[in-house]
Amino acid sequence: MSLEPGELRSRLRALLGADGLLTEPADLAPYLTDHRRLYQGAALAVARPGSVEEVARVLALCNTHRVGVVPHGGNTGYCGGATPDESGRQLVLALSRLNRIRSVDADNDSLIAEAGCTLARVQAAAAAAERFFPLSLGSEGTCQLGGNLSTNAGGTNVLRYGMARNLTLGLEVVLADGRILEGLSVLRKDNTGYDVKSLFLGAEGTLGVITAASVKLFPMIRSRASAFIAVAGVRAASALLTRMRSASSDRVSSFELIPRSALELVLRHIPGSTDPLDRAYPWYVLCELTGSGEADGLDALLEQSLAAALTDGAILDAALARSGPQQDAFWGIRDSIPEAQRREGAGIKHDIALPVGKLADFMDLAVAWVATHVPEGRLVAYGHAGDGNLHFNISAVTPAAGAALLARTEAVRRAIHDLVRQFGGSFSAEHGIGRLKVGELERYTSPVELSLMQAMKRVLDPNHIMNPGKVLRQP
Ligand code: LAC
Ligand code: ZN
Repeated sequence: MSLEPGELRSRLRALLGADGLLTEPADLAPYLTDHRRLYQGAALAVARPGSVEEVARVLALCNTHRVGVVPHGGNTGYCGGATPDESGRQLVLALSRLNRIRSVDADNDSLIAEAGCTLARVQAAAAAAERFFPLSLGSEGTCQLGGNLSTNAGGTNVLRYGMARNLTLGLEVVLADGRILEGLSVLRKDNTGYDVKSLFLGAEGTLGVITAASVKLFPMIRSRASAFIAVAGVRAASALLTRMRSASSDRVSSFELIPRSALELVLRHIPGSTDPLDRAYPWYVLCELTGSGEADGLDALLEQSLAAALTDGAILDAALARSGPQQDAFWGIRDSIPEAQRREGAGIKHDIALPVGKLADFMDLAVAWVATHVPEGRLVAYGHAGDGNLHFNISAVTPAAGAALLARTEAVRRAIHDLVRQFGGSFSAEHGIGRLKVGELERYTSPVELSLMQAMKRVLDPNHIMNPGKVLRQP
């Protein structure tokens, strides 16, 4: 039962009003390409519903007429999950007008927000109630809660608080046929059968559209101590993590690994950035302790622990942040690595996870492999070492080498992901599958698990209208 595009647009306009539907090419343009510019799609329109009921009516219409729907949040994803295909027959569903904080319950440590709220707004709403919402990532000013949950985002506080999935108490979801799953539970304990909401977390809009979520809050963070620490290598960084967790009564909330190559990119491309230490070292860790008390003594604790580590030879050097602005400068370096890489030019990205205890062994082999097999590239492997998650990226050594490097993307990806697999790791730690890694999912997921995923897709989206071709191949 297919409708002409013009007819579909006028039905959508009737449902959403003139403001709720974009059809002009200039208005559509920002929705048709992804943040990394890997994909350039087309769309019959962009729907901008202003209520959950409007989302439901749009999906019911699209389901009846077999129109593919591509949910779209802040468009900061790395795998093309929010970009429509090239056919021009899909509808982009932007959630940005669903942007209310519905409630904050400080006593219950929970908050209910709509999918189109930016992550920064959710954090601010929690803070206004003297509470802490720990999900934190470089794109938090732009990315939206719905996208965070749909990709099960990670970020820099996972070590202490877990990923988006772990922070979610309940969801409101519009199903492919327009039914609304009203599951905004704020309970910490609720063993009533299957955990249905969990299916939609990390599903990247392929099973339904998350329209709102109830999330966990925590005691406000009132003290922070941060250090930029030089270490000899990944093995030393991993040992330092164990040491710092014990020494701090497990108050390490971030433990980010930064290679010299990444710091150099930041110093070269990000104005105002400076090296926190006065000479060059091969690797660094940005380590942060946080606490809910004003006077937790975290600065002294961090300083003493690092002094002992220096004496033992466990670390090479360290700079302690003496002020908020210094902490911001450390985080500025960390958070601008992706932008610095983008400005540097061509590169290949991987988002891998290893068991934390195997990270160093993996890196020994992987670093050597890149050095031998990828002369056009320089390794920039950085990220969330505390979670065993590295952005194992390779930048072209020179602009001229960019094309040659990119031409080898498939072979490099295969070698790195096969090695990750040998170590019991994941080829997708926190960025999801989107369109980019559909083939990887097929290659590295067991047949039993893949068939379960396909079965869930058939049950929840029998007409394959939900974000077609993302996560799972379109049959
Ligand atoms: C980061 C993003 C790319 O950690 O996940 O920088
Ligand atoms: Zn990351």
